[in-house]
Amino acid sequence: MAKNVVIVGAQWGDEGKGKVVDILTGYADVVVRFQGGNNAGHTVIVGKEKIVLHLIPSGILHKGVKCVIGDGVVIDPECLLEEIETLKEKGKFNPEDLLISKDAHLIMPYHKKLDAAKERLRGNSKIGTTGRGIGPAYEDKVSRSGLRCADLLDREIFRAKLETNLREKNHYIETILEEEGFDLEKLFNDYMGYAEAIKDHITDTSLFLDRSMNEGKSILFEGAQGTLLDIDHGTYPYVTSSNTVAGEAATGSGVGPSTLDEIVGVSKAYTTRVGEGPFPTEHDEEQNAALREEGEEYGATTGRPRRCGWLDGVALRYAKRVNGLTAIVLTKLDILDNFSEIKICTAYKIGEQLIEDFPTEASILSKCTPVFETLPGWKSPTSDIRDFDSLPENAKKYVKRVEEIVGVSSILVSVGAARDEAIMVRNPFS
Ligand code: GDP
Ligand code: IMO
Ligand code: MG
Repeated sequence: MAKNVVIVGAQWGDEGKGKVVDILTGYADVVVRFQGGNNAGHTVIVGKEKIVLHLIPSGILHKGVKCVIGDGVVIDPECLLEEIETLKEKGKFNPEDLLISKDAHLIMPYHKKLDAAKERLRGNSKIGTTGRGIGPAYEDKVSRSGLRCADLLDREIFRAKLETNLREKNHYIETILEEEGFDLEKLFNDYMGYAEAIKDHITDTSLFLDRSMNEGKSILFEGAQGTLLDIDHGTYPYVTSSNTVAGEAATGSGVGPSTLDEIVGVSKAYTTRVGEGPFPTEHDEEQNAALREEGEEYGATTGRPRRCGWLDGVALRYAKRVNGLTAIVLTKLDILDNFSEIKICTAYKIGEQLIEDFPTEASILSKCTPVFETLPGWKSPTSDIRDFDSLPENAKKYVKRVEEIVGVSSILVSVGAARDEAIMVRNPFS
């Protein structure tokens, strides 16, 4: 029977969603990105080839699977075209497989300029954004002035909307920031060029998804970022500008919530974070280095070193709550292979006060210190293991303890970056 499965990040992003989506696409007919933009960097390794996807669903590497960029995504068409070119060069792009929502908003060059300027103006309280214009593009969406993919299909409408937008943006850029504004003709011509290149992909993707479901197709929803970066439920203001939780799979793709059968949260076997903001289990510099080098923890989009720490069970329990997780996937278990002791945070403390429920207020979270439980390591390689029972006893105990803390079981345990380096415990599509 056809099923619809949602994949979301259960931490601060970069949990290995790309790899998980790539594996599960083997059982799906359609893959949908439903929020975020090219702030995402989803790595898929097939054979010796490493591909990092920013906008196009990670399912694109499976020929014949339809890949949808939903209405909740913000699209930088220049980046999209670059991504298409890269995939074409690798022989991995079939034009018929990519569908783009007519309602998805466009990232414009002024959004990128404003993103950078806002970060500068925030000074010491900067967010550490990816600089891709994500926040300002969503601002325009919410303030009802944004340009959408459908607008690209009508020169007159696009020009009129762009003109109105530029009046306001250039005023801000030239008067407040004292920088050079944008030229209407140049922007218009650039975007009409992009329109020509992507117009055949732009369609009513909500309708397409509805028809696919009626035809008994299985759909995989690919979240970007992670729960703790959610605009409402994350560690505000150190978050991204979209809803990253599972509920957005419905609104960001135009399907009803009752169509979603399974909600899977992806978590690393430890924790990482890129950008600023509180991180209770963060290691000191020396410990940080061990995990960062072992796990090659450098951003897939910006190349920035990721902050590392032990697994945060409090945050994962919270991710279970706000997403309604029915299962988890644990990735990068192999990175813990050489540690003699592994810690899991089961609660926080502020002074003598025990905190078991995740506080999202940055001011409170930054005062929380972790209460750790220490488990023995397994000190043996796991990357070649393909069934759960063959894992070292202590590795099994670790996974089981994580499941117990979060309150849901794992469907997949990832033991290496390559496509086949994984242990399927339960296939959510069967
Ligand atoms: P995403 O944004 O959630 O898709 O994750 P990223 O691609 O940004 O970061 C995850 C990184 O971990 C990538 O470099 C992956 O190739 C790598 N990775 C994923 N799963 C595993 C795993 O089980 N073991 C190892 N060693 N690497 C993994
Ligand atoms: P994937 O999908 C990790 C972080 C940025 C910054 C904050 C806001 O690969 O997991 P933004 O540019 O979105 O306004 O930046 O969010 N961030 C991510 N961190 N993985 C991501 O995506 C991220 N996308 C945004 O570092 O702290
Ligand atoms: Mg990433």
